Amino acid sequence: MPAHKTAIILAAGQGTRMKSTLPKVLHPIAGRPLLHYPVRAALEAGCDDVVVVVGHGREAVSQYLQNTFDRRVRTAVQETQLGTGDAASAGMAAVSDDAGVVLVFYGDVPLLEATDLSAVLDARGDGDALALATCTVDDATGYGRVLRDAQGSVTEIREHKDLRTDAERAVREINPGIYALPASRLRSLLGALKPNNAQGELYLTDVVSLSRAAGVAVRTVPLRGDVLLGVNDRAQLADAEDRMHARIRARWQRSGVTVRQGSVIDDAVEIEPDATIGPFAVLRGKTRIGAGARVDVGSVLDDMTVGAGTHIKPYSVLTRSRIGERAEIGPFSHLRPESDLGDEVHIGNFVEGKKTRMAKGSKANHLAYLGDGVIGERANIGAGTIFCNYDGVQKHTTTIEAEVFVGSDSQLVAPVTVGKGAYVATGTTVTKDVPPDALAIGRIKQENKEGYAPRLRARMKAAKDARSK
Ligand code: UD1
Ligand code: CA
Repeated sequence: MPAHKTAIILAAGQGTRMKSTLPKVLHPIAGRPLLHYPVRAALEAGCDDVVVVVGHGREAVSQYLQNTFDRRVRTAVQETQLGTGDAASAGMAAVSDDAGVVLVFYGDVPLLEATDLSAVLDARGDGDALALATCTVDDATGYGRVLRDAQGSVTEIREHKDLRTDAERAVREINPGIYALPASRLRSLLGALKPNNAQGELYLTDVVSLSRAAGVAVRTVPLRGDVLLGVNDRAQLADAEDRMHARIRARWQRSGVTVRQGSVIDDAVEIEPDATIGPFAVLRGKTRIGAGARVDVGSVLDDMTVGAGTHIKPYSVLTRSRIGERAEIGPFSHLRPESDLGDEVHIGNFVEGKKTRMAKGSKANHLAYLGDGVIGERANIGAGTIFCNYDGVQKHTTTIEAEVFVGSDSQLVAPVTVGKGAYVATGTTVTKDVPPDALAIGRIKQENKEGYAPRLRARMKAAKDARSK
């Protein structure tokens, strides 16, 4: 049996620098709370027990973890936030000494990946050693510095606020906060922590100097710079999200999707090969894009399912709806939730749909409001058509059966049904059902008065002159 690997992820802090009522670790990055990523990294690195230390906003944080990871993740509570060392102790209270190697790291580091955790585990080797990650950065402000002796061995990690000399401040090797060591060793080191520092807290980082004092080997593993990016304020949140989005774009590009610069794809989105995601397109939530589909410039899709070969033209806004294959949407189309568009449907500019089903091959190419509708195959909805679905109290359904032609500028006052193959004349207000194959026409007969226009203009001008006197 492989040795146990336990992860303790610290996420109890308030995140004061975020200035938020939302717990820091629940702030979203690429559509998921930032804590999601370190937890996922621990699971992917093969940790068989993942303990998240919660405190500030613990109900919301625990709820998220349970809903998302179910029994694969446990929580431990740190009642008062006395520092990262105290948080690690709270985690260790839920872990037994035969837990094997424990990886301790911070929950506010969203860019961390499973490979980084594995690198630290590998560097530790067997036995009693402590392994920790380090990063070398241009600007070390705010981070704990890795201090070494003349032989290059690590002596301690000193927090930014506790640095004493310019030489210490100039150190660019910092602590990203990933530690691996045996459970029993971690427990005894944590027991020896003292709050003798600028913040009066128990620092987890002090396990390094304590290890050295106890003759425990300290091994370091250099990691790439962006791993460490701890999120402490909103600027770092935005920066981390930019990097996450770049990572997600690269992931889809490697799997055969054309992804243009400037597009934004959330972590849970799925895209089939040969799809194209245009510049400044935004794909959010559980959006699914089928093979060969195109999402053009500036379209925003939230929880959408888009079938293979469909073209979403520029600047369409589509939410919680389904579109079949080979459909053409936009430019400037708007789908509100629960719309369901079949294969080869066309909707064009300034067409708004809400809770409307459009069957295969039906079309609404210009300027329409289609709310609470059911539209049959190959039906054609003319420009300026309105489904009058709301009577001020209730919503009602408009049913347009297959092959109906609805002329431009018609209103359908729901509930109403237009039967198969019927024809609604342009400018008709449909208030009663139309039988199949009938022509519905409801407009005032046109009258032409010969030579009337000049007289009308003269009369209007005279009225205007009289007023301006
Ligand atoms: C910490 C490290 C620092 C390192 C940096 C990397 C310490 C003392 N310092 O500093 O060396 O360079 O991370 O990003 O460890 N937390 C708790 N309970 C607490 C305090 C914190 O659970 O009582 C959690 C926080 O929720 C957070 C993590 O621990 O997820 C780190 O805490 P934070 O206050 O952000 O530490 P830093 O000042 O960033
Ligand atoms: Ca931090």
